[in-house]
Amino acid sequence: MKIFVSGATGHLGGKIIEFLAQKLPTTDIIAGTRNPASEKALSLTAQGIEVRKADFEDQASLIEAFTGVDKVFIVSTFGDLESYIRQQTNAVKAAQQAGVKQLVYSSAPRADVSQFILAGPHLVRENIIKESGIPYVFVRNNWYVENELGTIQQCLNGAPWVTSAGGGKVGWVLGADLAEATANILAADGHDYKVYELGGENLTQADFVAALNEVTGKEVTVMNVDDATYSAMLEQANLPAEMIGMLTMIQQGIREGGLENNHSDLEMLLGRKPAGVQEALQQLIG
Ligand SMILES: NC(=O)c1ccc[n+]([C@@H]2O[C@H](COP(=O)([O-])OP(=O)(O)OC[C@H]3O[C@@H](n4cnc5c(N)ncnc54)[C@H](OP(=O)(O)O)[C@@H]3O)[C@@H](O)[C@H]2O)c1
Repeated sequence: MKIFVSGATGHLGGKIIEFLAQKLPTTDIIAGTRNPASEKALSLTAQGIEVRKADFEDQASLIEAFTGVDKVFIVSTFGDLESYIRQQTNAVKAAQQAGVKQLVYSSAPRADVSQFILAGPHLVRENIIKESGIPYVFVRNNWYVENELGTIQQCLNGAPWVTSAGGGKVGWVLGADLAEATANILAADGHDYKVYELGGENLTQADFVAALNEVTGKEVTVMNVDDATYSAMLEQANLPAEMIGMLTMIQQGIREGGLENNHSDLEMLLGRKPAGVQEALQQLIG
């Protein structure tokens, strides 16, 4: 069985490959990247993993990359709606042409019903896969603990934890746990047409900061503000307007429950409890 992992030089894809390599012969794994000559890609080659050029913007590269492949992991990319549709359509058409038997896609929590700002673009991409008729698995990943590393660094240097998310809960999850669960899906049979919600510990911003303080021994304080103040503070920090809008909408979405983790398949897929936030922070910065 040949498994193709796109985004193989990235955080999630790279970890998926690491976990797959613990389960399968490296000759069963194919790594996809736009740049097979990068340092990370060359290190995969050195481990005996075939690296193929695959650019979601270039359908021909994808057809070649997916040739002889049974399962493809499609990593979500950043962009606008137009590019999401174009890239996902390229990937799906190439998979159809190459006779791929399963597509696994990294999506967002409750993408089918959620009003969260990031959910809609994932639903569009899920639907492009569904309409292809190729058996699929959607792994709807909650919020990486790793997303907070930049803010954590600032807080450890004395800044408060500024939020307008109020008491909204987030199912923070360690990226490595998401990758391991996804590798388990790719390496096994029986997951066709499954949609998995993958989240971790369900915490408020204040709970998260308490865990951070526990791990670091610091006394980071939480500064609760409204959305307008949050935006103004980001503006003062010279963030680009587009980013300010997005980050503020994420805070609003969290406040409204968009990342609350009501159900998670992560423990079932891992066969163990996922790392809690404190354990994740310990691993990342402890
Ligand atoms: N749930 C969350 O909290 C959360 C947080 C961050 C991101 N995400 C989403 O999850 C995805 C994976 O996260 P990550 O941390 O692994 O991100 P990452 O480290 O930035 O990796 C993204 C990967 O996407 C690949 N890529 C980008 N554009 C591509 C294209 N046109 N064709 C082929 N590959 C392309 C890149 O591959 P090459 O450069 O090697 O070609 C890169 O390896 C992100 O892209 C984002 O959509 C989710």
